[in-house]
Amino acid sequence: MKKRTKGFEGRVFLVGAGPGDPELLTKKAERIIKEADVILYDQLIGSEIIKSFPAGAELIDVGKHAGLHKFEQDEITQMLIEHAREGKIVVRLKGGDPYLFGRGGEEAEALAAEGIGVEVVPGVTSAIAAPACAGIPVTHRECASMVTFITGHEDPTKEKSALDWNLLAKMSGTLVVLMGVKGIERNVNALLRRGKNPETPVALVERGTTDEQKVTIGVLRNIVQLAEAVGVKPPAVMVIGDVVRLHETLGRRK
Ligand SMILES: C[S@@+](CC[C@H](N)C(=O)[O-])C[C@H]1O[C@@H](n2cnc3c(N)ncnc32)[C@H](O)[C@@H]1O
Repeated sequence: MKKRTKGFEGRVFLVGAGPGDPELLTKKAERIIKEADVILYDQLIGSEIIKSFPAGAELIDVGKHAGLHKFEQDEITQMLIEHAREGKIVVRLKGGDPYLFGRGGEEAEALAAEGIGVEVVPGVTSAIAAPACAGIPVTHRECASMVTFITGHEDPTKEKSALDWNLLAKMSGTLVVLMGVKGIERNVNALLRRGKNPETPVALVERGTTDEQKVTIGVLRNIVQLAEAVGVKPPAVMVIGDVVRLHETLGRRK
């Protein structure tokens, strides 16, 4: 732990690591990581970023492995609280942006309730960057004046879905589904059953922004079969809407 002035109070930085490409880590995130005494990091942090962690920092991998959580959310929150109380600079590093489906809000609330200083460092979200790197702008003057981000994997303990599929099926613009690989059939059917045009273009972008990026293009009617045929795996975002057509002209990678 670095030497700090007497009375220094620990604080927690909720830092977004971006979508995978190490160059999409912000300068602010890079600076704060360098100053960290402890780093608690998630599974989707790029390996290049992990390699750049400061030598003296305590590193705690709190990510999911083989679909299983190493630590429960409560345990992670408790670790953040304890390390901050020891007067340390604690970095909680999350994939993409910490406040988009990253449970960052819950962690910040818990820390605030304990009176611990917490600062968020926004990150480049995969919800926009992965489509972008596949040649798909999520909005476009000609065909999408709005964009909606949803989870494809709602908390299984919830009694009722918080997603209004009737509304989602009716909405124009772009729909971006995160965490939706496992539930792809259920989610696609939820839209089709409520009258969404089966010919609506769909893209699945796996490991977007990284060297392993893979893009699968189809329409709502056949995307489930295509995903199965090519073996789509998480992490992936599903983009639904006319903007997907732009992939044809903008999606060629160098
Ligand atoms: C728990 S959410 C966290 C999202 C994150 N906070 C963000 O802003 O990107 C994890 C989901 O993000 C998406 N994701 C994260 N990184 C991705 C990437 N490089 N390419 C495609 N999807 C990605 C996937 O849908 C994955 O299931």
